[in-house]
Amino acid sequence: MASFVILLGPPGVGKGTQAKIIAEKTRRAHISSGDLFRENIKNQTDLGKKAKAYLDKGELVPDDVTIDMIRDRLRQPDCQAGAILDGFPRTPAQAEALDALLMDFRVQVDLVPNLTAPASVLVDRIGGRLTCRAHSHVFHSKYDPPKVPGKCDLDGSDLYQREDDKPETVQRRIQVYMEQTAPLIEYYRHQGKIVEVDGTREVNDVTSDLMDALQKV
Ligand code: AP5
Ligand code: MG
Repeated sequence: MASFVILLGPPGVGKGTQAKIIAEKTRRAHISSGDLFRENIKNQTDLGKKAKAYLDKGELVPDDVTIDMIRDRLRQPDCQAGAILDGFPRTPAQAEALDALLMDFRVQVDLVPNLTAPASVLVDRIGGRLTCRAHSHVFHSKYDPPKVPGKCDLDGSDLYQREDDKPETVQRRIQVYMEQTAPLIEYYRHQGKIVEVDGTREVNDVTSDLMDALQKV
């Protein structure tokens, strides 16, 4: 079974939703670069102070800052059995840095599922997304409503709308994805690691496609 898996795909396609489920099913660590940045912003760390302006505008945090953060995360003991990467890498320089880093650990990226959905679906999903303050659990006002309005089913903390989920910032994030991250599809296709996954289907159907792909590696 694949150990290091990258979920690629545009904002709102379901990377976080699927990464969480797959990580639990396969007992791998779930590494979300976006969640790590938001956690640092919440705790007002130096890293959070550097990253905040970029997240607010929907721009990418500079590569050196992002790569250092992920390097530290991958060195944590829970990553020894592998990890599901969600939101990293996002530029060719990040992908090359990840390859070099994993080579040091004598492992490699095993599989890169590329989740796809049209922009209308992304906007609809991001528009209704509700995120929990305590642990970044994700709900959707229409597709996955919480049992108690405004409260996380799993830990009871408040649900909020992410600052960068405002319509104008969403458009910029989609554009940034097209310009800076979509080239990674070819990067990993060259390595024979891309598997295409239709992200428009229901959550459970997407999960089973991903699990099938993982079993084959
Ligand atoms: P990040 O947090 O990674 O945001 P993103 O890539 O824009 O992706 P999202 O989290 O918006 O979407 P998702 O694909 O995880 O969808 P989700 O599962 O939540 O990054 C944020 C920012 O951090 C960046 O803009 C940048 O500034 C910075 N950053 C992060 N990584 C970086 C990096 N590597 N380099 C530089 N900067 C970086 O689903 C969305 C909604 O849809 C939810 O409400 C969910 O319930 C619902 N949903 C999910 N699946 C389905 C389904 N199948 N059917 C119906 N509804 C569904
Ligand atoms: Mg996410």
